[in-house]
Amino acid sequence: MPDFEPVLLARVNKPDSTSLESYRADGGYAALKKALGMAPADVVAAVKDSVLRGRGGAGFPAGLKWTFLPKDHSGPIYLCVNADESEPGTFNNRILMEEDPHQLIEGIAIACHAIRSNTAYIYLRYEYGRSYRVLEAAIKECYAAGLLGKNILGAGFNLDVYLHRGAAAYICGEETGLIESLEGKRAWPRIKPPFPAIEGLFRKPTIVNNVETLCCVTHIINRGAAWFKSIGVPPDPANPRDLGSFGPKLYCISGHVNKPGCVELPLGVTARQLIEEHGGGVWKGRRAKAVVPGGISMGFLTADELDTPLDFNGPLKAGCLGLGTAAVVVVDDQTSMVDVLYNCCRFMSHESCGQCTPCREGTKWMTRILERIRAGHGKLEDLDTLLEVAGSMGIIPGTTICGLSDGAAWPVKNAINKFRAEFEDYITTGRRAVTPAQELMAAAH
Ligand SMILES: Cc1cc2nc3c(=O)[nH]c(=O)nc-3n(C[C@H](O)[C@H](O)[C@H](O)COP(=O)(O)O)c2cc1C
Ligand code: SF4
Repeated sequence: MPDFEPVLLARVNKPDSTSLESYRADGGYAALKKALGMAPADVVAAVKDSVLRGRGGAGFPAGLKWTFLPKDHSGPIYLCVNADESEPGTFNNRILMEEDPHQLIEGIAIACHAIRSNTAYIYLRYEYGRSYRVLEAAIKECYAAGLLGKNILGAGFNLDVYLHRGAAAYICGEETGLIESLEGKRAWPRIKPPFPAIEGLFRKPTIVNNVETLCCVTHIINRGAAWFKSIGVPPDPANPRDLGSFGPKLYCISGHVNKPGCVELPLGVTARQLIEEHGGGVWKGRRAKAVVPGGISMGFLTADELDTPLDFNGPLKAGCLGLGTAAVVVVDDQTSMVDVLYNCCRFMSHESCGQCTPCREGTKWMTRILERIRAGHGKLEDLDTLLEVAGSMGIIPGTTICGLSDGAAWPVKNAINKFRAEFEDYITTGRRAVTPAQELMAAAH
């Protein structure tokens, strides 16, 4: 891969990277100044031209979403910053917030100017204590320096930013669950439409964007849409719905690798490159059996699919749900896929909010069936039952309110369709792919 200069992580590991002084010394808040000199519609147009796709999981183009706000609305418009980051394996937002909070605040201020909002809420994952403290200090610095509050940089723009600690549940990251939670209620996702851009927080037009998405906005204003589009992958001509995958991306690497971490690379790097070049290879000299491409809700790639480009189109072509959060989790060849899938199902069943019967019951039954298989009482028919349940739940079959259910179904579909022989062997012989004795021996090495 040609040399790539990190942009989003450029300031990470610098001494004092969280302070306003050091951020300004590195050119910080120049993009905000530039944006405040532009008409809001021109800022929206620049972000739309860049084809920046949301980094929170769904990949929806940010600029296009901003155009859905009502044009003639005279009341409040809100920005909700989705910092709930609870997808297993995902920690890129945490790094951005802990190490470079002003990059995010600048992106928030630019976005608010663009969408004509004077109020932003950062909805922060409850467990992120350090992010909370760092962001709180950075917001305070901004108010003192006239970068938040009234008449920002003398440009007549007012903005208040509130930091809100989340309710410690995965479903709070779903945008309408987040809005309900911010309103002080249980995080039960809302039926859409109406989408938040029309009726969101406090029933007012609202934009929800991910932390990384907003950090990208700062650089798009600084360097231009053409720069952003010079990084990444153009649309796949074979897929008329693909918009391309442009810009830098933070990839998280975890699981059975030698060097877990977070790296910034152009969109489109392959799973193999990530594991071998950036993750130090699979640990203990083993091979990868399966790889989660973007958080567990996206499903699995097999060892034969490691050359899949991790852009917005690649994982789809390999039968996964999508790129998701681009959080790669590696499963080595001595780990049982039955155990891996059981963990995924148990998590989703615990996190289902329970509003929709197919999700509430489906996630529970899939977990129970896997419990039975693991206890040695599985039947081969169980595999088809699991596929039937998985096929009947989610937004894609149209039976649930939100995408948690699709994210619960996809690992089941992928695991059974791609690793069926292992599941059958487990059921018929009662044997795990690796026995506990093998595990002990491996641990001793
Ligand atoms: C169950 C569930 C959990 C989600 N969790 C998050 C999250 O923690 N952070 C996030 O940005 N998006 C999350 N999303 C996606 C959001 O609903 C929404 O698409 C996103 O915040 C929009 O921002 P973006 O367009 O900038 O990506 C989640 C979606 C679902 C269905
Ligand atoms: S799909 Fe699941 S998590 Fe989403 S609203 Fe329905 S029950 Fe709740």
